[in-house]
Amino acid sequence: MATALCPGSFDPVTLGHIDIIERSARHFERVIVAVIRNPQKTQSLFTLEERQEMLAEALAHLGNVEIAFFKGLLVEFARDNGADAIVKGLRAVSDFDYELQMAQMNQRLTGIDTFFLSTSPLYSFLSSSLVREVARFGGDVSGMVPGHVNQRLLARFTGGGGEDS
Ligand code: PNS
Repeated sequence: MATALCPGSFDPVTLGHIDIIERSARHFERVIVAVIRNPQKTQSLFTLEERQEMLAEALAHLGNVEIAFFKGLLVEFARDNGADAIVKGLRAVSDFDYELQMAQMNQRLTGIDTFFLSTSPLYSFLSSSLVREVARFGGDVSGMVPGHVNQRLLARFTGGGGEDS
């Protein structure tokens, strides 16, 4: 049974992520959306539980997709969960260098292959970090994230209780 991992921070999930996961679910029998517990990059906007809830709602229509958390090396999580492949979306040339480096390192570590899907041109400019920034300053990100994620962003940045409150 071919299992793929779609890893990321998903802080929050965007329509770009969902497009990649939906397309992965057509090519692999089982897809595990692997949410990193300890991202290096930034302080998270949403808790792990919130991210899990948003992903679950956004992916409820996909019967062969699961959501799981991991910490440490992605390749070890892949090995522990019987995953045969990693799937990543490539938005632009700017993604390529780092993604290639990670794919080669992961291949070297355990032999796992990474498959790259070209991001839909509709979403090639989209990232969770830009969505957070635009939403934080009151910009309209509907059409870039599911409606329920947009509601959470609006609540976070206009309703109090968020990182800037
Ligand atoms: O959504 P992101 O933040 O761009 O996702 C990055 C992620 C989680 C896919 C990447 O940082 C990762 O795989 N981290 C796990 C740690 C690891 O295995 N590092 C070695 C990579 S070669």
